[in-house]
Amino acid sequence: MGKEPVKILITGAAGQIGYALCPQVARGAMLGPDQPVILHLLDIEPAKQSLEGVKMELLDSAFPLVKGVLTTTDVEEACKGVSVAVMVGGFPRKAGMERKDVMSKNVSIYKAQASALEKHAAKGVKVVVVANPANTNALILSENAPSIPAENITALTRLDHNRALGTVADRLGVPVTEVKNVIIWGNHSSTQYPDVNHGTAGGSPIRKAVGDDSWLNGEFISTVQQRGAAIIKARGMSSAMSAASSACDHIYNWVNGTPADTWVSMGVISDGSYGAPKDVVYSFPVTCKDGQWTIKQGLSIDDFSAQKLKATGEELVDEKQLALQCLQE
Ligand code: NAD
Ligand code: LMR
Repeated sequence: MGKEPVKILITGAAGQIGYALCPQVARGAMLGPDQPVILHLLDIEPAKQSLEGVKMELLDSAFPLVKGVLTTTDVEEACKGVSVAVMVGGFPRKAGMERKDVMSKNVSIYKAQASALEKHAAKGVKVVVVANPANTNALILSENAPSIPAENITALTRLDHNRALGTVADRLGVPVTEVKNVIIWGNHSSTQYPDVNHGTAGGSPIRKAVGDDSWLNGEFISTVQQRGAAIIKARGMSSAMSAASSACDHIYNWVNGTPADTWVSMGVISDGSYGAPKDVVYSFPVTCKDGQWTIKQGLSIDDFSAQKLKATGEELVDEKQLALQCLQE
């Protein structure tokens, strides 16, 4: 007998990430090729017509895995029975803005949507926040949905992880599948630290395979940190295809596990591992098994890395304060 369909919430579904995400989820990239899905697509009133267009296209694509599509502007209805929630709704960064600049608009959305999720989502709902500032939105969501375990509310840094894999693969001229175990530490922002010290390419340490520490410690890091801005500059809009694809990777590994000897990066509630500040959503290397993530422990951190882990942690603590201020105003 086939599997029961799983309800997936996508907020901001009429936006550009939503448009790129729906077909990927519908083809099984998020939960697997044998898992039927029912899509709950939420957007706001001004986007209602466009949301209906997305539904029409989903129906017209005749995706075999799609067993239903609900479109709504009612957050309570959207959250009913969902086992996975992909929180994309919000306002994107425009050229010249830092992610912090979208804070006041977006954190209040996450506070408001927390109680609907808490009330109506399925027990054990897995949440990934994509909308920026992703880590801090996830934290605010978690703090306002206390009955959802904090471990179930995560932020997307898999895009940064994939960018780091892709940048190393491109430099070496090898397929991206040859590169693994890079780490994104900290915030999904320009302070994030893409760390190659424990990664391999074609089975050799990345540092040995690349053979150019000054590139790895300089241009590589800033390329990954600034990739979001580079895409905004090139496309006039922020990343969408890669964000959608990485959101699928994030949930896929969380639900189905990570391959042996492989970790991925996820923004998760910090327990203070590696000296990160506690009680912020910080990106760590994680392995996943049986639907649970675990922070990979025991990796050595040199002084160069320790400074970078600290700087991005400090930014997250500042962002948390700023978010709390925004919510009081
Ligand atoms: P977009 O403007 O194209 O779409 C956002 C959608 O959210 C719009 O349709 C808008 O109507 C909707 N929306 C606004 N308020 C809402 C609410 N309260 N409830 C439900 N929907 C609401 O933007 P986009 O390019 O799809 O980007 C979405 C977010 O994702 C932005 O914040 C962007 O910065 C962020 N982003 C994050 C990453 C990441 O890696 N974490 C990558 C790319 C983009
Ligand atoms: C990205 O990393 O592409 C997104 O977070 C968009 C942005 O504002 O950089």
